[in-house]
Amino acid sequence: MGRKTIDELVRADEGLVSRSIFVDDEIFQQELQRVFSRAWLFVGHESLVPKPDDYFVSRMGTESVILTRDRQGQIQVMLNSCAHRGMKLCRYDHGNNRTFTCPYHGWSFSTDGKLVERPGELVGVPGHATHYKGELDKKQWGLKTVAQVVNYKGAVWATWDPDAPAFLDYLGNMRLYLDAALDNRDGSSGGSEVIGGVQKWRVKCNWKFAPENFIGDLYHDISHRSVDIVGIGPGGGRGRRDPSATRSAICFPELGHGLLGRLPFYEEGPYAPQYARYPEVEAYYREVHERRERTLGSAMRVQTSVGTIFPNMSFHGRQPRTLAVFHPISPTEMEMWRMYLVDKDAPEAVKEAARHYFLRYSGPGGMTESDDMENWTGATEASMGTMSRELYFNYQMGVGHAEPVPEIPGCAVNGEYTEENARIYYRRWAQFMNGLSWDELMAGAARAQEAA
Ligand code: FES
Ligand code: FE
Repeated sequence: MGRKTIDELVRADEGLVSRSIFVDDEIFQQELQRVFSRAWLFVGHESLVPKPDDYFVSRMGTESVILTRDRQGQIQVMLNSCAHRGMKLCRYDHGNNRTFTCPYHGWSFSTDGKLVERPGELVGVPGHATHYKGELDKKQWGLKTVAQVVNYKGAVWATWDPDAPAFLDYLGNMRLYLDAALDNRDGSSGGSEVIGGVQKWRVKCNWKFAPENFIGDLYHDISHRSVDIVGIGPGGGRGRRDPSATRSAICFPELGHGLLGRLPFYEEGPYAPQYARYPEVEAYYREVHERRERTLGSAMRVQTSVGTIFPNMSFHGRQPRTLAVFHPISPTEMEMWRMYLVDKDAPEAVKEAARHYFLRYSGPGGMTESDDMENWTGATEASMGTMSRELYFNYQMGVGHAEPVPEIPGCAVNGEYTEENARIYYRRWAQFMNGLSWDELMAGAARAQEAA
């Protein structure tokens, strides 16, 4: 049997996605080239590099990159691989370096705009005058830097593709929902900061399971039943959510982003997460949300429970807020990172309640995160066989029931339980895998804006 085309593997309109895209090595290599070397990727948060020369080692696709703040205060992102013979320059997760000196033969690279014309330029070569007779052209041998980098409300995004559209065009009106996660007080709190460092761990599953889950899989509630039964779930044993408080699945079909919207937590009654029962914390969050509604209007009254920015970044947009990224390692393994965000000037009690909440439910030891990881590893493992990989996953819930949201161009909304968001995610994935040009990739978004 010959290989199937991408359009045969992803039949999004019918709600069918081949299992092979979750386990096949050749498809994985194509993803790295066609998705991860072109799309805008989340690289980190500015609060991880607060001072000049601070660095944080991140990833883009399978590659290690250095996220650093130069001496002029600008954020730079460069490949963490020496231009000479490839050695990893930074072997620590984070630190502070004025220049990046390679441990192999000692070449050094700088981002200081006073010393170099472009970030990552080669500034020091041991034996340049003697061994190289002064003939090595240092300007030619700098570090590879990303083509575009953006610091959007503290979150750092980058792409290797010089032709990629501006980040805000790539994001479209999904921005309205991401904003709440990144800076839910619109600058009045001095922005957000990551607390407690970055949790990093490996999961034996295909990386796409996670963004698919967080783009709007409300249906998997049964997975988290155990924490409810013993009364230690976020709702304190009263169930995870009141279905009537779950507004809907909202998505941006032309861009591949989406979220699960919910009403404000103080309208969830007994289902509200437990943090809301501390009066000081509840009062703080209530003020934050009422203020957002006042400034942004009723369309934004809905809060993001979870959301995904294509391809591999997800977030919790209501309190407490988290950012997550899913780095591909192999077809059947990913490295998952989660960061926890709080308003810089929030009262200590609010930060403490958030920290508690995060530790309890999220991360490798979190009670609900570990439920999800079990599902993703089990589904990956059970799709690796010669029989199983020929089958299709079913995403047929709610086909044909999405409606446009008139007040938000490019946006569609579906019922509480739907797989529309997963379908639009895999349709976007197929567009990238088919190698569409950026004009083609962005044409639908432009049409949706015009029609509104
Ligand atoms: Fe870096 Fe040789 S590999 S200096
Ligand atoms: Fe879950």
